[in-house]
Amino acid sequence: MRTHFHSLPLFFWFTLSLILGQTRPDPDPLQDYCVADSKSNFFINGVPCINPDKVSSSHFVTSALSKTGNTSNQFGFSVTATTTANLPGLNTLGLVLVRVDIAGNGIVPPHSHPRASEVTTCLKGLLLVGFVDTSNRVFTQNLRPGESFVFPKGLVHFLFNSDSREPAIAISGLNSQNPGAQIASLATFASKPPIPDDILKKAFQISKGEVETIRRNLGG
Ligand SMILES: *[C@@H]1O[C@H](CO)[C@@H](O)[C@H](O)[C@H]1NC(C)=O
Repeated sequence: MRTHFHSLPLFFWFTLSLILGQTRPDPDPLQDYCVADSKSNFFINGVPCINPDKVSSSHFVTSALSKTGNTSNQFGFSVTATTTANLPGLNTLGLVLVRVDIAGNGIVPPHSHPRASEVTTCLKGLLLVGFVDTSNRVFTQNLRPGESFVFPKGLVHFLFNSDSREPAIAISGLNSQNPGAQIASLATFASKPPIPDDILKKAFQISKGEVETIRRNLGG
């Protein structure tokens, strides 16, 4: 019993560091804030800061997410994000918030964020959301307004508005200033320059004609 008691904090610490090691966030800032200097020509990990004496409340506020996104595209979705351009005060803080608008029966196609986990909350409508783990197991859930779902860092995930008429709205928080996004279908069939046909034919077990059709459909 005593040995158990002694090893427990160590075990807990070990487990915690393993978990944290796998979902490491952006580096910790060394300042209270580093309001982004949009005019700077320096390229560093993040965006350089303006003089702290020049910082005001307006640097920490944005209405960027108040507007409905334009969902008139082949998938029927739109993503609007807070950025260092529309919300300079978020620079170096390791997070962004995004608004996702999805038209009736629209989708956010399977995609991944290489640098962030994402927790999404349905604000309006009915959403079918899900992700695929690295053993190709799928986890899905239907979300109603007020319900949230989490997509683990780097894993392929999707959102679908299961109502054919009403638009849906979700809001997501991601734990990186620059999560990055790769849409699986576009990364494979609409890359510039294109991935050679022979690779796509073998990878997807399809013909050259089918490769061309998918490319054309996706604007590749
Ligand atoms: C939405 O996007 C489409 C396609 O890009 C464009 O034709 C249309 O004018 C846009 N609608 C609005 C309201 O901006």
